[in-house]
Amino acid sequence: MSLNLDWPVRRLLPDCAETTILAELVGLDLIAKAHEERPYVITNFALTLDGHATIAGRSGPIGTDADTAMLVGLRTQVDAVMIGAGTMRAERYGRVVGDPAKREQRERDGFRHDPLMVIVSGRLELPWDAPLFTEGHGEILIATSAGEDPPSTETPVEIVRHPDGIDLHALFAHLRREQGVRALLCEGGPRLHGQLVDGGLVDELFVTHAPKIGGGVGPGLIAELEEAERPLEVGWLLAEAETGELFGRYLVG
Ligand SMILES: NC(=O)c1ccc[n+]([C@@H]2O[C@H](COP(=O)([O-])OP(=O)(O)OC[C@H]3O[C@@H](n4cnc5c(N)ncnc54)[C@H](OP(=O)(O)O)[C@@H]3O)[C@@H](O)[C@H]2O)c1
Repeated sequence: MSLNLDWPVRRLLPDCAETTILAELVGLDLIAKAHEERPYVITNFALTLDGHATIAGRSGPIGTDADTAMLVGLRTQVDAVMIGAGTMRAERYGRVVGDPAKREQRERDGFRHDPLMVIVSGRLELPWDAPLFTEGHGEILIATSAGEDPPSTETPVEIVRHPDGIDLHALFAHLRREQGVRALLCEGGPRLHGQLVDGGLVDELFVTHAPKIGGGVGPGLIAELEEAERPLEVGWLLAEAETGELFGRYLVG
């Protein structure tokens, strides 16, 4: 699907201006911010007003196409996209940059054609029939503590084993050193997000605040994180005039 990233939004912070999602994203220059020992790490989530990351078990009903434009736009600015196994099981990912024009633009901008897909899974119980595995585009790296081998897949899969439990610092060092990953987007879910925040491994959070109440028992932005006050700097606050969505960018100090 070709989604126009030149999506008009109003910047409310740090100053007021009419702008677009694309104009805001190209100024980010995430790859220039790579750490020596790990990629620059950003996360992206969509949340309801009552703080849920899912409605009926999925993230899709929370945001509109404007939220998708932000997500796809962020995917065009990174070398790798990371998810936890729970998100892969719920969302059954396919190719993350589906539009050929955006993949060509990635190459012109010095990125690999498709972002490297990174999946964190303790048990290696993944939906192997999902398009990400069956369509053969790009490359996948799975960090796991399971001993068994995955089934054969059309899309090449590299397995990185952490038999004593997944060490996210070591995984990021591997991605930086062996795969040349400069900037990485983690798209969830809340449990993986909690571990990344807890480990001091997140540089920026991008959060879509949807004007919607979901209710239910779905998770929030972050799960299983010890209670503490963690102030963030507001990088920007953008408003979508028609849908009422607010896009926050928060920097970890
Ligand atoms: N609103 C949004 O923006 C958004 C974004 C993402 C996801 N979601 C939703 O969130 C839900 C999934 O939540 P979740 O918290 O369960 O997902 P998750 O964080 O993606 O996945 C958790 C799973 O990842 C693996 N994992 C994570 N860290 C690990 C570690 N250190 N060591 C070993 N394994 C590790 C484990 O997999 P194994 O079970 O294989 O051991 C664990 O069960 C879905 O319903 C999805 O739709 C919403």
